[in-house]
Amino acid sequence: MEKKWWHQAVVYQIYPRSFYDSNGDGIGDLKGIIDKLDYLKILGINVIWLSPVNTSPMDDNGYDISDYENIASEFGTLDDMECLIQEAAKRDIKIVMDLVINHTSDEHPWFIASKSSRCHPKRHWYIWRKGKDEITPPNNWASWFTRSAWEYDPDSKEYYLHLFSKKQPDLNWANPEVRQALYDLMGFWIAKGIGGFRMDVINLIGKPSDYPDGALTDLGVVGMDHFCNHSLTHEYLREMHQKVLANHDLLTVGETPLVTPYEAKLYTHPMRKELGMIFQFEHMDVDKDNAFSEKKPLDLVGLKRIMTRWQEEIYPDGWNSLYWNNHDQARIVSRFGNDQEYRVESGKMLATTLHFMLGTPYIYQGEEIGMTNTYFKSIEEYNDLMDHHKYDVMTKDMGLSHSEAMDRIQPFSRDNARTPFHWDTSLNAGFSTGTPWLPVNDNHLTINAKMALEDNRSIFYHYQKLIKLRRNSEYSNTIVYGKHTLLLDDDPHIYAYKRSYKNQTILVISNFSEHHQNISLNEQVITPIIHNYDTAPQDLQKAILRPYESIAYLVY
Ligand code: NOJ
Repeated sequence: MEKKWWHQAVVYQIYPRSFYDSNGDGIGDLKGIIDKLDYLKILGINVIWLSPVNTSPMDDNGYDISDYENIASEFGTLDDMECLIQEAAKRDIKIVMDLVINHTSDEHPWFIASKSSRCHPKRHWYIWRKGKDEITPPNNWASWFTRSAWEYDPDSKEYYLHLFSKKQPDLNWANPEVRQALYDLMGFWIAKGIGGFRMDVINLIGKPSDYPDGALTDLGVVGMDHFCNHSLTHEYLREMHQKVLANHDLLTVGETPLVTPYEAKLYTHPMRKELGMIFQFEHMDVDKDNAFSEKKPLDLVGLKRIMTRWQEEIYPDGWNSLYWNNHDQARIVSRFGNDQEYRVESGKMLATTLHFMLGTPYIYQGEEIGMTNTYFKSIEEYNDLMDHHKYDVMTKDMGLSHSEAMDRIQPFSRDNARTPFHWDTSLNAGFSTGTPWLPVNDNHLTINAKMALEDNRSIFYHYQKLIKLRRNSEYSNTIVYGKHTLLLDDDPHIYAYKRSYKNQTILVISNFSEHHQNISLNEQVITPIIHNYDTAPQDLQKAILRPYESIAYLVY
């Protein structure tokens, strides 16, 4: 596989609403991001993925766009965006934009026109169907945020499809005019100098023309068997590549629910000319049965099996991303680590475990300082529309009590990731001088960027070192392209694997438990590369790992 600049990149995701508020309105903004670019430069990343900043009524915090070529007023102006791209470039950082084009906002002029009349030329820019009968939608598909994926329009007596909220109608990709309009807006942003696109739920764009009922299995959302990974999606992506991406050297990452490594290769094989890499979710489902179930303890053997499949089955036919966190996931120290006594150790352990793997790593804001979940007590405190949907289903359809529903919502709520970033110990963690749109976590007095920067043993500096090892060190080739081999497959507490490239081999060992664990491995240590306690065991034939201890070694 030809080497690409983004193989060796480390990406930092910013959720603009929650990063830094420069004007005191309680909402993070573009000027705030510009103010903090030096912080990211110190961390060492070279790409920022910016969650959506386009004009939006914010039903889903920007994942519902009403003007693709403009900036939401709470985030700033087009000038601010251009300034951000330029200021980032001065620091060798590229900006990857979130491209939300499976759907628009219902307040987008295209949808307003489409809804205005069955005869409007833009009617078929969206997906309109008659019901099965007067009261039954066209099929049984559900959406992520509502029980049915169809919303009835009494004026035209037809339903439109929305795989997310009813304010996020799905575009009709089967219509070439729609595709061209989307390619044009991509060109608009490419001309402004962005470094790539993160494509929101891009494997949902192709839909079967007969809209059949979905199987009632536990896949997740009813209908996924029809609207995920349709062959038309691949056609559209190849067309997009040919018409827009081919002449630019951009990072493209497709968010793709319900994919297998085989499908991932279809999306990312260089010869197929679709995408650079994808985000898959299999490892994020390891501690739950479905979106409505309880949190299960981490099954490390299961996690290793999943991660290893993705490590060993894709490259060199395709490329993958690596992540523990994003704006849709709970905080990883609270989830797979320990956010109390061993927060620092487990934060570093999780980072080491992931950052020596094959793929492009993504760090989500706050992960580098070990930010934790926030558990709101009442459903009203949660902002995220998905939590409200889940609460409704759990209490009304599933018959759970309020506290049972909250116990299921709290550990996975997307708001865990969305509380404001902790800059320092001042008012509102230094995020805003106004009232933050989502409450700041109380633990900002002990967990914040200022203290992390002043402590050379902080999680921040551990990430900084991992990024440097990958991007610019004698180990870079092995970390970026080395062959992956899992060791101790069945050990329920230890995650151990090797990466080998030419004559160099790196061994990573991580203790995922809060207890001491004995290990015995035949590998001979040359030198430790990075570790999270002051010392690292030297004799791996007979070693004891401390709680959440993690070491990467150079070995013979
Ligand atoms: C995936 C995004 O990551 C999520 O935040 C959003 O709610 C849905 N797509 C809908 O755009």
